[in-house]
Amino acid sequence: MTSTYRAFPQHFLWGAATAAFQIEGAYDEDGRTDSIWDTFTRVPGAIVAGDTAEVACDHYHRMPEDVALMKRLNHAAYRFSVAWPRVRPDGGAVNQKGLDFYSRLVDELLEADMVPWPTLYHWDLPQALEDAGGWTNRDTAYRFADYAVSVYDALGDRVEAWTTLNEPWCSAFMGYTGGQHAPGRQEGAAGIVAAHHLLLGHGLVVDEVRRRATPDRRPRLGITLNLTVADPFDPARPADVDAARRLDGLHNRVFLDPLLRGRYADDLAADTEGMAFEGRPWSSYVHDGDLALISAPLDFLGVNFYHGDVPAALPYDAAPDELLGSRIQGPARPRTSPYPGGGFVFPRRGLPTTDRDWEIDPAALTRLLVRLHEEYAAPPIYITENGAMCDDVVVDGEVRDDARRDFIEQHLHATLDAIDAGVDVRGYFVWSLLDNFEWSYGYAHRFGIVHVDYETQMRTPKGSALWYADVIARNAVPL
Ligand code: NOJ
Repeated sequence: MTSTYRAFPQHFLWGAATAAFQIEGAYDEDGRTDSIWDTFTRVPGAIVAGDTAEVACDHYHRMPEDVALMKRLNHAAYRFSVAWPRVRPDGGAVNQKGLDFYSRLVDELLEADMVPWPTLYHWDLPQALEDAGGWTNRDTAYRFADYAVSVYDALGDRVEAWTTLNEPWCSAFMGYTGGQHAPGRQEGAAGIVAAHHLLLGHGLVVDEVRRRATPDRRPRLGITLNLTVADPFDPARPADVDAARRLDGLHNRVFLDPLLRGRYADDLAADTEGMAFEGRPWSSYVHDGDLALISAPLDFLGVNFYHGDVPAALPYDAAPDELLGSRIQGPARPRTSPYPGGGFVFPRRGLPTTDRDWEIDPAALTRLLVRLHEEYAAPPIYITENGAMCDDVVVDGEVRDDARRDFIEQHLHATLDAIDAGVDVRGYFVWSLLDNFEWSYGYAHRFGIVHVDYETQMRTPKGSALWYADVIARNAVPL
């Protein structure tokens, strides 16, 4: 009899992901002070409907119930982030109450036999550090290492896998070049300077934490990147082919090359040569020794994947509606391209899209994973985020989110295709466990496999969550 399921490798790690700022709420409790996102949510027009994350999913007060829910849904691991402004308010001294929350969370997970998978930085830089220049200030990387070590010292007896940064591309380029994200700066080359300092922060943390390894404490260290395929929109148009090369440089290789090859690529350096921040070429922010720190071997690479990105070079003559993203309501604040010197747009290819107006392109995930393996000899990979935004509706107490279930199913097959091609993929975390504060889209965009009623804080597992629980139980996805 032929099986109607396609199996994952033994010991494949299954779970869901969240981030502190998006779910915790309790924004001013137990010593927490503002992060750049608290500040940004107060900027008129920065967030759809003026939403804030002051309460969010109230996870800070509901953590044990949320862990129990994951357990009921068969999850074996939980990817969460630690809030820097809880652990070191204003970027200063250690706040024991902040650490205690994560210590309780880790204990709760271990009691439920789940693997804690913390990320040290998921975008919530203490505002006080931004006031001193934020990620454009080299000192922030050192403050990050100090903070990370305080978390490691508190949890390292129980946590093995540590992710330094989540999606530094967003922190750097959406935060400092495009300004769609906190701190909302739109300063061209500031994005690439910030990217380098984020990478330096990563390298410093890897170095500091590894020094603390002992025979019975063997931390595994990784980073999570949002990587993409960069295909030309029209492969016959040389300008599009060049736009794809530049996009690949400014999105993927700006992180992959320093991390996995110890250098910035020559073409990226040439493309960005004239870019200056505060009167100095950005390359002068790269000090001797930085790249050696940044390229210390990784124990794993986290990959977040939602869509492929297929640029067309400007000038590109399109009705606004022909560009991706144009069919959703965005924040009112004017945006600029997050790619310094970009010069490209993302036209529709006619593929189906999620309700976020992101194209659904699972084969792109397979190609990306194969590329990481073949071109970069990447360390073991975990899909640390993948999921879909859907305009969910609750009917008779249920959410039938078939589109999200299909999205996840297709991407699980795409992951298996990569595994079949020889890529070492060891786990998958769906984004997200809960509907939550979706950054500049506030609560308007739901990514959860569990529905959150923000009035009552009631959690309702959606159809996708029940389906996913079955996938985990079988360690296999329907054919
Ligand atoms: C990636 C980010 O890490 C996460 O915080 C965000 O909510 C999802 N993408 C969906 O946009």
